[in-house]
Amino acid sequence: MHARRFLRLLAAPLWAASALRLACNTAWIEHTPQAYTFKNTYKGDTPGVLVSGGAASLSDASIDLAANAETQGLKQYATHRNYRLIYVIVEVSYRLVARRDAGVARLADLRGKRIGTASGSSAEVFVRQLLSTAGLAHADYTLVSGGVCMRAPCAAGSFPAMLRDRKIDAFGIWEPAVELGVQAVGEAEAVLFQNASVYREIYSLYSTVEKLRDPPTRKKIVEFVRALNQTLDLFRNEPDKVYAAVGQTVGVDVPVLKDVWADHKWGPGSLGPDLLDYLVVEDEYLAKTDKRAGISRADLAKFIDTSVYDEALALKG
Ligand SMILES: *[C@@H]1O[C@H](CO)[C@@H](O)[C@H](O)[C@H]1NC(C)=O
Ligand SMILES: *[C@@H]1O[C@H](CO)[C@@H](O)[C@H](O)[C@H]1NC(C)=O
Repeated sequence: MHARRFLRLLAAPLWAASALRLACNTAWIEHTPQAYTFKNTYKGDTPGVLVSGGAASLSDASIDLAANAETQGLKQYATHRNYRLIYVIVEVSYRLVARRDAGVARLADLRGKRIGTASGSSAEVFVRQLLSTAGLAHADYTLVSGGVCMRAPCAAGSFPAMLRDRKIDAFGIWEPAVELGVQAVGEAEAVLFQNASVYREIYSLYSTVEKLRDPPTRKKIVEFVRALNQTLDLFRNEPDKVYAAVGQTVGVDVPVLKDVWADHKWGPGSLGPDLLDYLVVEDEYLAKTDKRAGISRADLAKFIDTSVYDEALALKG
């Protein structure tokens, strides 16, 4: 009797400890495939747990996986060479919206303007890289911080409201805030800029060498990648089946979600030489702005680990 009770007590924490734990920012559209996967397609022995965080959370040994933009992945890899990028969940072509009546018709017209973005984020990389293609240096414009907005009416300090109130002339950030910015000023007034070859967010899945080396954890991660890949097939090919769930998870109205869906190229994204080339270019930029040494191409090649996806491909069923 006592022994049985003891076993039962013992079983609970062990069960909890073996759950796969994934950290990501649970506010954004990019996190919804992970939430959907844990709820619907992942068939591990124990349900997975989604926690709020990102690539930086991998320094916590209780976290097995993280999802984040490649920008945060690279910033972390610079000081944590045991982190690995194992799967590309979604590539998002960010957009920058400007007010026509601020005198903006071309990118070069953003000289001297006030431009909203999130400092230190993938969106800042996007804004700066995009403007540099028009010959604008950092000193040629002013970056302004603000909040994002997921659903109208947008709060006073959020980018769409700031654009409407002329506190900024333009802003660049992830969706649906840009779409809500277009709606806030009206389509005729909005000028949009986007260039996926200059910058796109490569929102990826990460783990660590230690987690991937541990057989039971690795098995769960492979199963998760397989299930995530099934989810993304739905996101890409049958979005009508997921719009409602995605909208509800992040508080975005379905018509707005449909407007921005095409800017999201749902995975599996390439883990090939094109990804490495892209990371090399972005790391050169980040090394300069973060005032650190760049990561060599050989070390960036080690950051990308294709073996989990290859094992997921070999799984039956
Ligand atoms: C995107 O940027 C590249 C590199 O600067 C340029 O060659 C290309 O014309 C741009 N595309 C658009 C649609 O502006
Ligand atoms: C992922 O999905 C694509 C099609 O959407 C498929 O071609 C590929 O085999 C899948 N990979 C895995 C690991 O299941």
